[in-house]
Amino acid sequence: MSVTNKNRYTHMYKIAVLVGSTKANSTNMKFARALETLAIGKLSFDYIDIGSLPFYDDSLWDNPPEPVTRMKEQIVAADGVLFVTPEFNRSIPGVLKNAIDWPSRPYGQSVWAGKPGAVVGATPGAIGTAVAQSHLRSIASVLDIHLMGQPEIYFTMKPGLIDDNSLVTDDKTRAFLQGWVNKFTAYVGRFAAPQQLKIAAE
Ligand SMILES: Cc1cc2nc3c(=O)[nH]c(=O)nc-3n(C[C@H](O)[C@H](O)[C@H](O)COP(=O)(O)O)c2cc1C
Repeated sequence: MSVTNKNRYTHMYKIAVLVGSTKANSTNMKFARALETLAIGKLSFDYIDIGSLPFYDDSLWDNPPEPVTRMKEQIVAADGVLFVTPEFNRSIPGVLKNAIDWPSRPYGQSVWAGKPGAVVGATPGAIGTAVAQSHLRSIASVLDIHLMGQPEIYFTMKPGLIDDNSLVTDDKTRAFLQGWVNKFTAYVGRFAAPQQLKIAAE
């Protein structure tokens, strides 16, 4: 959270965003951008470049790769985290699991603990990434990431819902996603509030 007066009073929260796909024209990146557009003025999205991370390797901590240290800094600086995950064979993609593992180490130096967050996901398929999201909730629990319980989003991407500029073109979908954005903003705010009070008291 920024400590500037401007941000304190406008309640703009910085969200580290992990999109679990490195694919060009990713459905989940398109979906993340749609949420970002609906969150203008409430949340600022800071995308993590998960594709530049090496495979997790304990021995690399001797001289940590720049994408790893950058990611950890991005998580530390964020008021909350958002996971936007595809479902791969009824779980999260390996590239996303790898990105979740890095900031949890070195042992005792995880930057995940205590962060508020949310998981959503999009797929062309009917079950809307529900199983992948369930797996991610298990992982988040051991990392002490506090994922919002409701509302959930299991998004089946169909033509006519979100256009190529990531604008939500379907009214019902937009209302639902806007409601989710508003609730997630309030959820992150519940975690930020004590820090704001502390800053205000100083
Ligand atoms: C290896 C692999 C496994 C997949 N398994 C699932 C699955 O279990 N459930 C599902 O809904 N879609 C599955 N899909 C389809 C993905 O949802 C689809 O490719 C989607 O577009 C991936 O998201 P992205 O476009 O953001 O990369 C799978 C795709 C791949 C490549």
